[in-house]
Amino acid sequence: MKVAVLGAAGGIGQALSLLLKNSLPAGSDLSLYDVAPITPGVAVDLSHIPTAVQTKGFAGDDLPNALQGADIVLISAGVARKPGMDRADLFNTNAGIVQSLIESCAKNCPKACIGIITNPVNTTVAIAAEVLKKAGVYDKNKLFGVTTLDVIRSETFVAELKGLDVDQVQVPVIGGHSGVTILPLLSQVEKAQFSDDEIAALTKRIQNAGTEVVEAKAGGGSATLSMGLAACRFGLSLLRGLQGEKGVVECAYVEGSGEHARFFAQPVVLGTSGVQEILSYGKISDFEQKCLDDMLETLKQDITKGEEFVG
Ligand code: NAD
Ligand code: LMR
Repeated sequence: MKVAVLGAAGGIGQALSLLLKNSLPAGSDLSLYDVAPITPGVAVDLSHIPTAVQTKGFAGDDLPNALQGADIVLISAGVARKPGMDRADLFNTNAGIVQSLIESCAKNCPKACIGIITNPVNTTVAIAAEVLKKAGVYDKNKLFGVTTLDVIRSETFVAELKGLDVDQVQVPVIGGHSGVTILPLLSQVEKAQFSDDEIAALTKRIQNAGTEVVEAKAGGGSATLSMGLAACRFGLSLLRGLQGEKGVVECAYVEGSGEHARFFAQPVVLGTSGVQEILSYGKISDFEQKCLDDMLETLKQDITKGEEFVG
């Protein structure tokens, strides 16, 4: 399998590439691309790590070579937030970046599974879908908004609050990836009871966790290391599914039945062609139902903005 990381010289890109170099199955190819000229050097650096994963770096106008033969493309190219900004404030810069990278994916690896990390995810995934559609190669089972960071944060915060082993905690997170559209289903956490106040506070913390990092980094960017780990977990799950492993499930922002919105994050079974099945998110509490009802207008507006951008 060949995995390409676009934005590979950035904060997420380098962390993700390091983790992939260390954890992809033997014989895999890892292809790094970024506009930054350092990228081939990042690949040389990684190539000294003793794993059987071949690493190559590409920069500037060498994107086609980075993408050819890719089975999985993970995209974190683009600008990150600074304090006081919302993810939507990144739209003006990142929309065009995602559009042009996806145009190249459509030409050079039209059958690849694509995971979009670049914010605003609620909108950039819609941009990617429309670009792929225009090129005549859109397969909704192969396009994902990567929302795994919301899941790992939820699991970490729940384990800390309740003194649980984090490896035993699972929290599905549905909706989208910004503010009120992030909805952790805390009512489904096994072995933990929460008061109403705890549910309200924890939900808010998970929704604002990105901002927590942006403020702590004080102008130096947003989450990179935790996101690198989250994207690696998602990429490896995708790869395990593509290789035929059964029962691989991750929450991801995908195009489903449109029951709530065209794109919606919920648990999906990953198979040999990408999304094999979109699972029901199951029974939710009254609090979660209200949060879900309240988020939908925002989520739909975010999606429309992406669709209209491509036109
Ligand atoms: P960063 O600034 O450290 O890195 C971004 C990289 O993108 C840079 O190396 C830059 O050279 C590169 N780049 C810019 N334009 C490019 C292009 N056209 N082609 C290829 N590379 C290009 O930023 P970061 O911290 O890595 O964050 C990247 C993005 O990921 C941001 O939009 C951020 O908001 C988003 N993000 C998403 C999540 C999530 O949960 N989905 C989490 C954290 C960050
Ligand atoms: C996050 O959730 O950390 C990312 O989406 C980055 C951000 O801007 O918050």
